[in-house]
Amino acid sequence: MPANTNNQPIGIFDSGVGGISVLKHIHALLPHEDLIYLADSKYAPYGNKTAQEITQRCLILCDDLLQKNVKAIVVACNTATAAAIDELRETFDIPIIGMEPAVKPAAEASKNGVIGVLATVGTLKSAQFAALLESYGRNVKVVTQGCVGLVECIERGELDAPETKALIRLYTSPLLVDGADTIVLGCTHYPFIKEVIQDVVGREITLIDTGAAVAKQLKRQLEEKSLFSVGQEKTEVNFWTNSEAGNASQVIKNLWGNQVEVHRL
Ligand code: DGL
Repeated sequence: MPANTNNQPIGIFDSGVGGISVLKHIHALLPHEDLIYLADSKYAPYGNKTAQEITQRCLILCDDLLQKNVKAIVVACNTATAAAIDELRETFDIPIIGMEPAVKPAAEASKNGVIGVLATVGTLKSAQFAALLESYGRNVKVVTQGCVGLVECIERGELDAPETKALIRLYTSPLLVDGADTIVLGCTHYPFIKEVIQDVVGREITLIDTGAAVAKQLKRQLEEKSLFSVGQEKTEVNFWTNSEAGNASQVIKNLWGNQVEVHRL
């Protein structure tokens, strides 16, 4: 790798704005790293696409990020990780960090041995998720629920609109009926509606997501490969979207909570 590798940025991508929930953890844990966030907004949601379609998109986005000179990539999307992580790691010669629904921590946290998983249909029907259940879901009852339409609400920035709340009620009610005391937010969009979900399911239910764990895993990888930035005091977070609708930029600004410029891919 070239000598200036350490101060190259880290690339993070998702089908849309959901991965910003992971980006926040990364920025907090690694404040001296430059970050580039790609929202594949034009092709969101991924949840109802085939693994092949998602893999194609991920290959294109990783190429884009490499052209922006990144030193590592975080796939801030459970659906994309399930569909494409193996192929991305075979194709690109830099660290690629993926993510999966927090079944293991949820199984450990549950007091009554019943956990619920909210995720996209794509994640739930993937071989990766089946393997995850095989490894960590054996000693608990796992109730899964695909959440069609919820990502679209969040992409529109409608975090507590009546339609969003109605979908949350619809999708959490089977988990509660089955007795889940712990619910996994298995899609990176859902942390943005965590408070609304908590209001609907009640304060006694534990909600778990993976953003912090992914940031720690990225940190470990950078450390192992001696890729931490050197001497950077002032860092940048750059946002890119291929949205044609136009409101993605505003939603990104609202979710990030800072004055940022959003570039067009
Ligand atoms: N944010 C994504 C995930 O973690 C994908 C949502 C979608 O595009 O359907 O699964």
